[in-house]
Parts: sequence; C-alpha cells; structure tokens
Amino acid sequence: MQQLEDKIRTEGQVLGDDVLKVDNFLNHQIDPELMYAMGKEFYRLFQSKKITKILTVESSGIAPAVMAGLIFKVPVVFARKHKSLTLKDNLYTATVYSFTKKVSNEISISKKFLDEDDHVLIIDDFLANGQAVEGLMEIITAANATLEGVGIVIEKTFQKGRQLLDAKGVHVESLARIKTFKDGQVVFVDDQD
Ligand code: G4P
Ligand code: NA
Ligand code: NA
Repeated sequence: MQQLEDKIRTEGQVLGDDVLKVDNFLNHQIDPELMYAMGKEFYRLFQSKKITKILTVESSGIAPAVMAGLIFKVPVVFARKHKSLTLKDNLYTATVYSFTKKVSNEISISKKFLDEDDHVLIIDDFLANGQAVEGLMEIITAANATLEGVGIVIEKTFQKGRQLLDAKGVHVESLARIKTFKDGQVVFVDDQD
C-alpha cells in the first residue's frame, strides 16, 4: 500500500537491526485517515471471504482492526493482555511468548464474543515472529470458529512469522512488507534494487 510505505519512509525510525518505530501514526499517536484507508484496503483484500468478526490484540492492533470492522460492518474483539475485574470467568486464553521482550503473556477473550458460527479475520499492527497471531489462532480453534485470514499492517519478512503462517496454509495479507533495514533506511519487498 503506497500511502503506508510513504508514511513509513517519511515518519518511521529504524532502531538497531530489526525494529521500526512508528509511534507517530500507529503505536502511540494515531493517524485516523491512514487507519481508515487501511481499513478499506483490508476490505478490498478479504471481501471475497465471509467475515463475521474481526479479532486483534490490545493495544496497537485495535485502531486498524476497528477501521476494518467499520467497512466490513462486523464487530471487533480485542484479546486482553491483563485480566479485567469484570472479565474473570469463561475465557479463552493462550500464552504468547515475545522473542523481542523475552516474556510470556496470557491473552484472553471472553467466550461470549466468539463461537463456532464465527468466520474470523485477524488484524494486527506488526508481524514479526508471529506469536501474537498464533495465540489468536489457538483461541479461534478452542472456540471452534473458522479462521478466514490474517491482515497485517507492517510485516518484517526477515523474521519468522510469515513462514510459520504460510506453513499452516493461512491466507496472510500485509499492507507493507519490509525486506530489511539498510543503513537506517527501510527496504520494502517491492522496492526496485
Ligand atoms: P510477534 O507477535 O510477531 O511474535 O511479535 P514480537 O513478540 O516480536 O513483538 C512483541 C511486540 O512488539 C508486539 O507488540 C509487536 O507488535 C511489537 N513489534 C514487533 N516488531 C516491531 C517493530 O519492528 N516495531 C514496533 N513498533 N513494534 C514491533 P505488543 O507488545 O503486543 O504491544 P502493543 O500492541 O501494545 O503495541
Ligand atoms: Na501488536
Ligand atoms: Na506493538
């Protein structure tokens, strides 16, 4: 998605070898018009599928997921990383290990918001090692729901998430695919070299 790649080039900051900071428009401050354009793009990419629900993980997946939900006209459910006072029982949970942060977190979704009739589109901000998406897939399986696809805002193709999902036959679409970081600059998969 050209508009997103332009935004990443002008406002993204490369940190070290493998991290892109995008807190100008996605991870802290949010650009609503860009989010809306991304929602429309996710709709274009997955409109042939019968989607009844969109799933994401708090917090940074929520903005793009809500915009997709707006266009698909379906509810959006975000997995929580911390147990809430009012959300204690009847949960689907999965353990998500972050290679980046070297910690395990439980994510959970209330059973009342996901069932066997659901056809789910997962949306998330980053695809790195794929652990968040795998956790959501575990929950979808536990609910006997159907996974229709995974929509990612920014994919880093040099980490192992995409390979892992491809190997499972999952339909993945990413709005920006980063091949590598070179001299502090982002190189996209579709850049000419
Ligand atoms: P994984 O799910 O693909 O395995 O991701 P990983 O454990 O490597 O990443 C942990 C957190 O870091 C996730 O956010 C993920 O979205 C984010 N992340 C991964 N790579 C990058 C990157 O290059 N840039 C930025 N900005 N974030 C990255 P999270 O902890 O769930 O936080 P949030 O959703 O509240 O923002
Ligand atoms: Na995330
Ligand atoms: Na994040």
